[in-house]
Amino acid sequence: MDKLVIDGGTRVRGRVRISGSKNATLPIMAACLLTGKECVLHQVPDLDDVKVMENVLAGLGASVKREASTLIIDPGSVNAWEIPEHTSRKMRASNLVMGALLGKFGQAKVSYPGGCAIGQRPMDIHLGGLRQLGYKVEECYGYIEGYFSEAVDSDITLDFPSVGATENLMMAAVISSRNTVIRNAAREPEIVDLQNFLNKMGARIRGAGLGVIRIEGVPELNGVEHEVIPDRIEAGTFMIMAAASRGDIIVENVVFEHLGAITSKVRETGAEVIAYNGGSLRILGNRKLGSADIKTMPYPGFPTDAQPQMMAFLSGVEGTSVMVETIFENRYMHVNELRRMGADIKVEGRVAILKGKSRLRGTTVEATDLRAGAALIVAGVSGSGETQIENAFHIDRGYEKIEEKLHSLGVKAFRIRD
Ligand code: EPZ
Repeated sequence: MDKLVIDGGTRVRGRVRISGSKNATLPIMAACLLTGKECVLHQVPDLDDVKVMENVLAGLGASVKREASTLIIDPGSVNAWEIPEHTSRKMRASNLVMGALLGKFGQAKVSYPGGCAIGQRPMDIHLGGLRQLGYKVEECYGYIEGYFSEAVDSDITLDFPSVGATENLMMAAVISSRNTVIRNAAREPEIVDLQNFLNKMGARIRGAGLGVIRIEGVPELNGVEHEVIPDRIEAGTFMIMAAASRGDIIVENVVFEHLGAITSKVRETGAEVIAYNGGSLRILGNRKLGSADIKTMPYPGFPTDAQPQMMAFLSGVEGTSVMVETIFENRYMHVNELRRMGADIKVEGRVAILKGKSRLRGTTVEATDLRAGAALIVAGVSGSGETQIENAFHIDRGYEKIEEKLHSLGVKAFRIRD
């Protein structure tokens, strides 16, 4: 497995441009299945998870071509509705095609995505919602099989504002002779981007981002062109890295409104965040920084996907910080790795108590999942000495050209490929 080696003690300086959002791209790629016409997606990040979704669509019969950061998807010859088990298990988000296949073809078969490093990741909210939409959904031998049964007007309230369930239900409801309301829907910007994409295709959806989504069914959708929003978690990762390393950087291609919770927590530690017109911001960490308490919440609260990175940062500043991870039941896999770098962290269930120190020390650590890997980069850059991050492939799932971006900020980083 490959390693990412980072020479620590660097105050990051310079500019970094944020790529398109992985978590907006994946559902929008799935939504292309809802039309038989070609869709053109711009600002699509070249990530391993996006490649998996490209293969899912190709496996169903669609043609997918990449030209730089543009994807051209022609679903005209899609002639299958089953996602192979190894794909579902490889990437949970491949299950986002379930809603689109049901919405377009009235049938879908996917295997249970299974748990992962951060939690069990069940599908009960997805399946309960699909049944309320009038689909028959059966679960057997590790597979989920759904098919259209009857068109009904639906008014669904989700037990939890699940991002994936909200997206699957939107896609399953958009082509219909009936209307749908989804309450307690996820409010993430990626949901709004999906709504905008579907409405460009001819859908009639409103309320994304506000918690209640209203969908007026339409008979069909057209192929469109769309630019994916920038990746707010990648942007947050570099903001946290700048504060942690006491650096001074400009982050370009951001939507400032998507970064509210991260901005306010980075400012609470004493770092400065200055927003400029035109979608860029500056972070200065060159002051005495202190602790901050973090509780992850559904958007617009503090994003769980930035919790590991924040833990790496707060472990290296004087003071005690309390973190509560409310979204996933097992999202502290990075704690042991940070402890190997000298972090003083106690975990009790979903609560982590950090006793910050002046600085972490580089050593060999292991990335256990995507954002844990990002946390180890933050710790490696801001800590002293060399850090070797094993299983760096996890990082490539969500961070495009990570070495290049680190180099643009003055960080000495290179890859050792086994
Ligand atoms: C999306 O995952 C993101 N992935 C995750 O980002 C992100 O952490 C998560 O939303 C929460 O914001 C993509 O968008 C591709 P959920 P998703 O359904 O949709 C429970 C990253 O690093 N739940 O909102 O799978 C679930 O177990 C990834 O980019 C049920 O109980 O997340 C979890 O505890 C990691 N039953 C909570 O809800 C269900 O049917 C939130 O899950 C569905 C979810």
